Amino acid sequence: MRLFVVLALFTALVAALPVVAEPPAKVLAPYTRPTNIAHRGASADAPEHTIAAYELALKHGADFVEPDLQMTKDGVLVCMHDTTLERTTDVAKVFPDRATEVKGKKTWPVADFTLAEIAKLDAGSWKGAKFAGARVPTFQQMIDTVKGKAGIIPETKAPEVYGKRGLNMEKELMAVLRANKLDAPNADPKTPVVIQSFSAESLKALRNDHACKLPLVYLFGAGDWSAEKLKGVKEFADGIAPNKAVVLARPGLVTDAHALGMSVTVWTFRTGQTGKFDSVKAEMTHFLRELKVDAVFTDNPDQFPRG
Ligand code: G3P
Ligand code: CA
Repeated sequence: MRLFVVLALFTALVAALPVVAEPPAKVLAPYTRPTNIAHRGASADAPEHTIAAYELALKHGADFVEPDLQMTKDGVLVCMHDTTLERTTDVAKVFPDRATEVKGKKTWPVADFTLAEIAKLDAGSWKGAKFAGARVPTFQQMIDTVKGKAGIIPETKAPEVYGKRGLNMEKELMAVLRANKLDAPNADPKTPVVIQSFSAESLKALRNDHACKLPLVYLFGAGDWSAEKLKGVKEFADGIAPNKAVVLARPGLVTDAHALGMSVTVWTFRTGQTGKFDSVKAEMTHFLRELKVDAVFTDNPDQFPRG
């Protein structure tokens, strides 16, 4: 009987103990928690780089939304991944005579068209009839959609292409951020801004020529990134953004970057391209919890493993 009472008391005591929560995962600046970045918006479920994709990303709980940036002929930043318009718009139908021929193939560079012309294009139908009429957003329209609701991580895409045409992407990017009071760290706590690029020159120009104090992230998709080589990146960037394959080939890259105080953001997680993992959620979980990366770019922000 006494044993029974002791056991009952012990069981009651254990039940009364507070559940010990798992300590929150540590991440490096500029992130404050394992971070969900909507790649081109919620681009698995809506046409990439449209307001519909950005709004869906917010609905899916993205911490940051990613706009890739290109420039129009009249120098306006627009959100688009490619330097050309034909993959994601109906430019071939609307402007059939404005193509450039490259290696025997017709192409329609963004920089050959003014904003007014690009505004006529349908950027949604290629993804599905229900998205017909979606437009190519300007960077300003993207900011108007996301500001106050999530962070923004613009990528300077092919700045050298625009430089050859006398357009300065970094200068325009900082001007737009300044006009929106987003050009300094913590300027708007609800809208942190991080700038990313595959171009080291672009990041250096932002920091040295345009006094950019925002966190800068250097993208790469291949190569042997030793700790020594990372030290060179640290000279001009605050974080690295390797692709998944680079991290899987050498997971020690994450520890090396962290030891230098650099955050690690990995791309790109999407359904149907998950390698040995059963789902995109399982793949993101592995990178965030086992490999300890700080943030992921994903087409499927609704699948981000939270909690
Ligand atoms: O910016 C991260 C990731 O988006 C890089 O790849 O080609 O989709 O811009 P991409
Ligand atoms: Ca990108």
